Amino acid sequence: AETTPIPEPPGLPFIGHLTELDRELPIRSFAALADKYGEIYRLRLPGRSLVVSSSHRIVNELCDEKRFIKIPKGALHEIRNGVHDGLFTAQLEEPNWGIAHRVLMPAFGPMSIRNMYDEMHEISTQLAMKWARYGPHNPIEVSDDFTRLALDTLALCSMGYRFNSYYTEGLHPFVEAMGDFLTESGNRPNRTMPTWFYRNEDAKYWKDIETLRKTADEVLQERKRNPSDRKDLLTAMLNGVDSKTGQHMSDTSITDNLITFLIAGHETTSGTLSFAFYELLKHPEAYRKAQDEVDTVIGKGPITVDHMSKLPYINAVLRETLRLDSPISQFAVTAKEDTLLAGKYPVHKGEPMALLLKKMHVDPSVYGDDAQEFKPERMLDEPFNKLPKNAWKPFGNGLRGCIGRPFAWQEATLAMAMLLQNFNFVLDDPSYCLALKQTLTIKPKNFRMRATLRDGMT
Ligand code: HEM
Repeated sequence: AETTPIPEPPGLPFIGHLTELDRELPIRSFAALADKYGEIYRLRLPGRSLVVSSSHRIVNELCDEKRFIKIPKGALHEIRNGVHDGLFTAQLEEPNWGIAHRVLMPAFGPMSIRNMYDEMHEISTQLAMKWARYGPHNPIEVSDDFTRLALDTLALCSMGYRFNSYYTEGLHPFVEAMGDFLTESGNRPNRTMPTWFYRNEDAKYWKDIETLRKTADEVLQERKRNPSDRKDLLTAMLNGVDSKTGQHMSDTSITDNLITFLIAGHETTSGTLSFAFYELLKHPEAYRKAQDEVDTVIGKGPITVDHMSKLPYINAVLRETLRLDSPISQFAVTAKEDTLLAGKYPVHKGEPMALLLKKMHVDPSVYGDDAQEFKPERMLDEPFNKLPKNAWKPFGNGLRGCIGRPFAWQEATLAMAMLLQNFNFVLDDPSYCLALKQTLTIKPKNFRMRATLRDGMT
């Protein structure tokens, strides 16, 4: 067949396209390059290359798991130094991925997540209490407080551990080590100097990993000494037997995955909530509809687990937020065999290919001419369920898609409902426009709002 080479920006010797990339906000460069080079392009970076796809038709092809598999590249590859073949960072063919996946799937299923509702509610209430104490005049650091929500909820629901982030000054040492570990994991793939140059960074990196592993392992050993009837993820991992191999998860694999849940679940959930509130504040009509829904469906009384499935508009707000502002703005696969994309672009087995959600989610062939606009109505069940296959991928794809999705959804729905029920929000700076911060995920930068209590907290 006729083949077409994949477009490439002009590059420099040795460093290739490294200078094309914005160090602070790589996603901006990836999107700008897509605007310039189109639905597919290739970047050459020191020692590696990357194909970047941003149209629905090519992403749809890359979601075919018979032809393509996840490849933990870049920061994800570095994170393996800390959590090895945990679910998020494993290669599909690694046996521990299969064992953990089969043991954990039921533990992340709808019934188990329902059982976590009370603990989620407790942490959400702590957040609401904090904002009530702030009063209407103090600016709230939105992303920071949602990160505390996500971390405390994960630690409590997965292993019965309390970070108490709303009751302590500064960050818990585990949380601090995790933040630094993730930042450094993001920096490491872009190193250009000889190894010795980074010896201080490396020493700190391995010390952070030790802190993470020691803390998680202590929780595990403590639970083994004092078995509990808590129905949490740790119990599931300790008791679960893999249906296929008959094996239990090893202690190392349990530790890897305890840390993995915190890594994979905290910035993603917190970013989603932060972006959602930003979008609501910029779209008063959508804001009003969301709050009306809470007032009609829940009223002033306590929010219960049964309300979670009765908030279609909030559901749509979260979906639309994830379309426009996916905290994980791209994920990567590679071809199992040399192949052609769109019937003409040759790609090689093993080469990483990024699915650029930031662009794919605004593909006009799927979302129309108003693709850039925030319109939750398009994400109500009826239009949403009719979207073409693989047109909305904020949770990744197939077998390697997000195992924590029902967890995140319940937590985000509950938090949003509780906050809209109890407060009225305004932007701290009415002229604020979305700025982004990129670490492992993307989140709003310098986004602050103020909260006024409505009539009495529930
Ligand atoms: C995988 C997004 C919340 C645990 C993924 C992937 C995405 C994603 C895009 C695939 C990554 C890839 O292909 O490289 C999100 C978003 C969330 C969220 C947007 C919040 C709105 C959570 C939570 C947890 C979690 C709360 C844990 C409780 C995981 C794990 C994987 C994963 C373990 C790896 C699954 C596997 O490959 O077996 N997530 N996630 N995520 N996520 Fe989430």
